[in-house]
Amino acid sequence: MCGIVGIVGNQPVAERLVDALKRLEYRGYDSAGVATIDNGVMDRRRAEGKLFNLEKKLDGEPLAGTIGIAHTRWATHGVPNETNAHPHFVGGVAVVHNGIIENFSELKDELIADGAVFTTQTDTEVVAQLIAKYRRQGRDNRAAMLAMLNHVKGAYALVVMFADDPDTIMAARFGPPLAIGFGKGEMFLGSDAIALAPFTNEIAYLVDGDCAILHKDSAEIIDFAGNPVERPHQISQATAFVVDKGNHRHFMEKEIYEQPEVISHALSNYVDFHGHTVKPVDAAIDFKSLRGLAVSACGTAYLSGLVGKYWFERYARLPVEIDVASEFRYREMPLYRDQAALFISQSGETADTLASLRYCHEQGLKIGAIVNVKESTIARESDAIFPILAGPEIGVASTKAFTCQLAVLASLAIAAGKARGTVSPEEEKQLVKSLSEMPRIMSQVLNSIQPQMESLARDLSKFKDVLYLGRGTSFPLAMEGALKLKEISYIHAEGYAAGELKHGPIALIDENMPVIVIAPYDRFFEKTVSNMQEVAARGGRIIFITDEKGAAASKLETMATIVLPNVAEIISPMVFALPIQLLAYHTAVFMGTDVDQPRNLAKSVTVE
Ligand code: F6R
Repeated sequence: MCGIVGIVGNQPVAERLVDALKRLEYRGYDSAGVATIDNGVMDRRRAEGKLFNLEKKLDGEPLAGTIGIAHTRWATHGVPNETNAHPHFVGGVAVVHNGIIENFSELKDELIADGAVFTTQTDTEVVAQLIAKYRRQGRDNRAAMLAMLNHVKGAYALVVMFADDPDTIMAARFGPPLAIGFGKGEMFLGSDAIALAPFTNEIAYLVDGDCAILHKDSAEIIDFAGNPVERPHQISQATAFVVDKGNHRHFMEKEIYEQPEVISHALSNYVDFHGHTVKPVDAAIDFKSLRGLAVSACGTAYLSGLVGKYWFERYARLPVEIDVASEFRYREMPLYRDQAALFISQSGETADTLASLRYCHEQGLKIGAIVNVKESTIARESDAIFPILAGPEIGVASTKAFTCQLAVLASLAIAAGKARGTVSPEEEKQLVKSLSEMPRIMSQVLNSIQPQMESLARDLSKFKDVLYLGRGTSFPLAMEGALKLKEISYIHAEGYAAGELKHGPIALIDENMPVIVIAPYDRFFEKTVSNMQEVAARGGRIIFITDEKGAAASKLETMATIVLPNVAEIISPMVFALPIQLLAYHTAVFMGTDVDQPRNLAKSVTVE
């Protein structure tokens, strides 16, 4: 998390740095700061909270200079106030950092024993203090930077500037992403290619253990021992997309309504809409000969993987081992070379997912990445990339990336079944036909349920706790419904497998905790209705999300019933995702929370 950017150039930089930070604000928005050097004087402006606070400050007190670094923060160590905002200045050294310095506490004790005075509670300050110390001992800037890199442990992307050298920016990567951008008489650094897109599309990604030394017309990359290394230049496809909500109030609302269009775009990469067949899958993953799949991801992406598990097991008879990446990476799970591993990540930068990927890579498994950002680290370290083509997702709460991940997983499960002979040509045709109908059905649903969702959200906002229930693929969807509601409305919500109700959560049921039941009229419908009866018998209020057949079959009294069209089982998770997204969205809007940038969250989590 945290976004960092740097420019060493020939034109004023402050405004351009802030412009680049706007494209990085998805990485954190607890505070922001910019530092430049002008006429030998290094100065900075920092502000707590969102970027516009920094912009206001810069309007009143502009910064001149043609070299500068900037940062948008997602706080890890130290409260999100102005003192802890980056850049940090110590003895003529300015530092911005994304990541965590794991040994900061012991380094800090040593530095304090040496006489250093710390002014922040951040782990980052030890980086600036260490470089300053090595400079005081007589090392030049480059040697001081390398000495620091050989002392810090953890995950970091760092950009450093020196008051006594207004033509140089240094940077290092060990974990979180960092790209060099090559301009004309100017050099850039940024957490991603999108941040740099307005400046240049010629990019080189640093890899772990790289240190870059940039002047306005040259870039040198060395390892931490000082040996030169080469990194390929590539032309980035990232565009400086216009950050525009269209006629929507929030990005999240826009992204919910974009789903029919982006899903159809995503599907066109995986299925033939005319012949109703799946397209061949990247040969790097040979589904036919696989013994099993290992799947790992975080948050919403994990929940899409959980839906995918049901599909791979049902349609391809392929056993799936799935876990959240923060557990997966440390489980020391026995894996076999005839398994493949799939990692799902919107950003493609999530630290735990990347670490799980590297674990599977070491075990010799072929790696597939289901990502939205095709140039991300997870994509680059995979054997096969399965893009979800959702377009930039700005709202921190994932919506369109979730349904596009599902569309890709469904297509891959059918392709795997076809390769393994468990999906017949007729079944393939039927399943793909159902997938092709999905964009139309999603549009229809989005157009019809909005008023009901808005009025239901008013009622829901009065409660403090909500329980979501579902069976089969509706179980992960229940967890996604709860996650969406809690992250943007701050209402406490849990998602449970409906059958687990009687094993504990039933004790919570009373009129103060609405139970939202997701139950299309599928193989599990009758079972789920029995669970609803158990809720009703205890005075619980039910919000029933079902389809026309389900609504006709259930005789239970509910607080509200949301009726969707009857759809094929393979597409119901994507269609039923729409009411849970809209319910969370309208509840949050009604409660007046910051929908697109909910408190304490960030769009890309590059720390453990
Ligand atoms: C929730 C949400 C998060 C992300 C998670 C993984 O709405 O967006 O739970 O799904 O942080 O992020 P990616 O997909 O970028 O790896």
